[in-house]
Amino acid sequence: MRGVIQWFLQRLTGFILFIGLIIHFYVMHYSGTGALDYETVTARLSSPYWKGFDILFLLSILYHGFNGLWGIVTEYIKGSFLLRIVQIVIVAASIGLFITGVRIVV
Ligand code: HEM
Ligand code: HEM
Repeated sequence: MRGVIQWFLQRLTGFILFIGLIIHFYVMHYSGTGALDYETVTARLSSPYWKGFDILFLLSILYHGFNGLWGIVTEYIKGSFLLRIVQIVIVAASIGLFITGVRIVV
C-alpha cells in the first residue's frame, strides 16, 4: 500500500512541478528586469497567494526529488546499515530544507 501511495504522489508532484515550473520560469525570466529586486520579491512574498504557491511548490519539489532518490537508493544500496544511514540523511535533509524554505516564505 505504501508503494502505491508513493508512486501516486510521485506522479502528482511531477504534475504540480510541470505546471509550477512553467509559472516560476515565466515570473523569474519574463516579467521585466526588476522581477528579482529585493523590493519586488518581498512585495510578491507579501501576497498570501504567492506564499501558498511557493510553499506548495517547495513541498512538491522536496517530495518529488527526495522520494525519487529514496527509490533509487533503496534499489541500488545492498547493505542494510548503509541504506538506513542514507535514508536518515534523506529524511533529515527534507525536513531541514522544508523548515528553512517555509521560514523564508512566511
Ligand atoms: C516538470 C517537472 C517534472 C516532471 C513533470 C516530473 C515527472 C516525473 C514522473 C512522472 C516520474 C515517475 C516516473 C515513473 O514512475 O516511471 C518522475 C520520477 C523522478 N523524478 Fe521527476 N519530474 C519533474 C521534475 C523533477 C526534478 C526537478 C527532479 C530533481 C530534483 C526530479 C527527480 C525525479 C526522480 C529522482 C525520479 C525517480 C526516477 C526513478 O525512479 O528512476 N524530477 N518524475
Ligand atoms: C534561473 C532560475 C531560477 C530563478 C532566477 C529563481 C528565483 C527564485 C526567486 C527570486 C524566488 C523567491 C520567490 C519569489 O520571488 O516569488 C524563488 C523561489 C523558489 N524557487 Fe526558484 N528560481 C529559479 C529556478 C528554480 C527551479 C528550477 C526550481 C525547482 C526545481 C525552483 C524552486 C523554487 C522554490 C521551491 C521556491 C520557493 C522557495 C522557498 O520556499 O524558500 N526555482 N526562486
